[in-house]
Amino acid sequence: MAQNSWTKQTFKLNTGAQIPAVGLGTWQSKPNQVREAVKVALQKGYRHIDTALAYGNEHEVGQGIKDSGVPREEIWITTKLDNPWHKRVEEGIESSLKSLGVDYVDLYLMHWPSSTDPDDLKKHYPDWDFRDTWAEMQKLPASGRVKNIGVSNFGIKNLEKLFADERFKTMPAVNQIELHPNNPSPKLLDYCKEKGIHCTAYSCLGSTDSPLAKDKTLKELAEKKGLSTAQVLLLWGLQRGTSVIPKSVTPERIESNFELDGKSLSDEEMKALDSLPDRFKVCGDAWLPVKVFFGDDE
Ligand SMILES: NC(=O)c1ccc[n+]([C@@H]2O[C@H](COP(=O)([O-])OP(=O)(O)OC[C@H]3O[C@@H](n4cnc5c(N)ncnc54)[C@H](OP(=O)(O)O)[C@@H]3O)[C@@H](O)[C@H]2O)c1
Repeated sequence: MAQNSWTKQTFKLNTGAQIPAVGLGTWQSKPNQVREAVKVALQKGYRHIDTALAYGNEHEVGQGIKDSGVPREEIWITTKLDNPWHKRVEEGIESSLKSLGVDYVDLYLMHWPSSTDPDDLKKHYPDWDFRDTWAEMQKLPASGRVKNIGVSNFGIKNLEKLFADERFKTMPAVNQIELHPNNPSPKLLDYCKEKGIHCTAYSCLGSTDSPLAKDKTLKELAEKKGLSTAQVLLLWGLQRGTSVIPKSVTPERIESNFELDGKSLSDEEMKALDSLPDRFKVCGDAWLPVKVFFGDDE
């Protein structure tokens, strides 16, 4: 493989599966836009699509996959179990498979470590938490409908709590977490690496109306290298060993976000981005009935 063929690169998971390094994100991609976005991405060469039951667009994502003409088996599909579905894992996966129009997904993630009561989204179940959900999710790969299982938005504290559960058997293959230079989480990345958990970087561009787009260090670096700021952020994520799933519904951006081959950042350039002074998370936990982030990657 040529040097830095990021768009062909995969990361090997603890199950032996290979997750493509660059994928297309679809949070906030409206149903009427996402079908085309997925088609454009797959025709450009993307082989990894990230969606979730909570995004309300799985049906259109599935249509975009079919429109693309790319065979199903060449595509990595990730979807996620929604918080109010924790007691209904079986129904959750069946709903996602039906909406997507596929008979298996490559990766099924617990979207958040929050077992929210569907009758009152402000309440957490008193008799169920993410450990119970994981005990159910562990049963899925045997059915062939889910190739790999993982978690999302887990910090060190909740991972430790999960591992301590007496029913815990399967190490998550992936932890999908917010990662960009304003939320680099080096401690959590190291912890996951030590446990053999691959991390996928979400909000890798800083999300909608990203403050990173105005960052002086990033802008100057991108200009110097003749790259877009988005490309620089994606290279930063890839060079840290994380897969990246930039979201866009704009065809030119979908295409340029995939033009990464042969490009790289030097150690010095990586360090400059590691040292941006601002720290913030796009996706906090204030909207959940339970706290899931405990500061400093915990
Ligand atoms: N597990 C979780 O809890 C979780 C949470 C958040 C996100 N995610 C996943 O991660 C994906 C990515 O995160 P995200 O959607 O928060 O944000 P993101 O990918 O960091 O940023 C998306 C924003 O950047 C814009 N954009 C994309 N490419 C660009 C470019 N080349 N130049 C300028 N702007 C560009 C997009 O605009 P346009 O679309 O208008 O082009 C959109 O507003 C999500 O879509 C989702 O699949 C998962």
